[in-house]
Amino acid sequence: MTITRSVPVGVGHYLPERVVENAEFESWVDTSDEWIRTRSGIERRHFAAEGELTSDLAIAAANNALADAGLTGADIDAIVLATSTPDQTFPSTATKVQHAIGMKQGFAFDVQAVCAGFAYALTNANALIVAGQAKRILVIGAETFSRIMNWKDRTTCVLFGDGAGAVILEARTGTGDTSDRGILACDLHSDGAFNDVLYVDGGVSSTQTTGVLVMQGQEVFKHAVQKLAQTADAVLAKAGLAHADVDWIVPHQANIRIIKRTAAKLDVPMDKVVITVQDHGNTSAASIPLALSVAKQRGQIKQGDLLLTEAIGGGLSWGAVLMRW
Ligand code: UT7
Repeated sequence: MTITRSVPVGVGHYLPERVVENAEFESWVDTSDEWIRTRSGIERRHFAAEGELTSDLAIAAANNALADAGLTGADIDAIVLATSTPDQTFPSTATKVQHAIGMKQGFAFDVQAVCAGFAYALTNANALIVAGQAKRILVIGAETFSRIMNWKDRTTCVLFGDGAGAVILEARTGTGDTSDRGILACDLHSDGAFNDVLYVDGGVSSTQTTGVLVMQGQEVFKHAVQKLAQTADAVLAKAGLAHADVDWIVPHQANIRIIKRTAAKLDVPMDKVVITVQDHGNTSAASIPLALSVAKQRGQIKQGDLLLTEAIGGGLSWGAVLMRW
């Protein structure tokens, strides 16, 4: 039997130049480098410059992924961009990337599932490829969460950062078994009953303002460990694979304690977990593609490795994608 697989053929990222160390927050709010490090694992994060937009970050990441794949915009026939911090209410940030990379053909759109955005984007892109709607898709996660911080709220403003990552998926023929490269299984969930544990207190149809992020951190933490382990188990079960088959977990980078507890629940040792939270903070939808790109640069992930990505965020929305790199 042969089937169509969505195979990663390029990856890239971009981080804004400005690095903000934990200590800088000590002069803005009642916090300490020690609290931020021990409670979240974050040491520094990048913030976009004034006038630097989510699309600028996304375009830079997209160009780096294209260079990695040896492709140009003319070779791409769709863009799926995950963001909760778009340049404008509309048009989509994806169409800005489309124009900037010289892509005259195909289509581009945004998906919004907050920190789970990249899992949603990969799942959508994979479905388009499997359905024959596109052959090569640029899947991007890009965020400027620094624009929606409440700088007086120490419980949230120290946690987030800006950045972008991109992966190019290409339709290739596979055998249908788990030795194939590409996406092997996807698992998505959301539950709107938990809208109020993590949200932005503004929006187009409600306040006509952008609003700022509000989070009940402990509540989200409890849901995160349980739901991430569940979705990771589900995606492995769909593919017929076991915890021991996983070469790397590439988790959403929100909190080192969540990452460690989830890995422990899955019985995967920490030397098989990609960690970037110390340098990037929580970059929402950008965190997984950023981690993939950095892990490739570090020489951690190699072609043929089985990667388990998992994420949770506002909605609540969560999910996992299993792929052979
Ligand atoms: O990506 C989307 C998903 N988001 C997440 O996954 C985030 C999930 N939640 C978390 O990562 C953690 O809950 C936090 C890092 C947000 C907080 O860690 P925590 O261990 O749950 O702390 P806490 O909320 O229980 O707060 C403990 C104490 C409180 O003081 P009291 O009430 O014990 O006196 C807070 O007021 O720490 C205080 N606190 C701070 N102290 C210094 C809260 N923020 C800070 C701060 N600096 N920045």
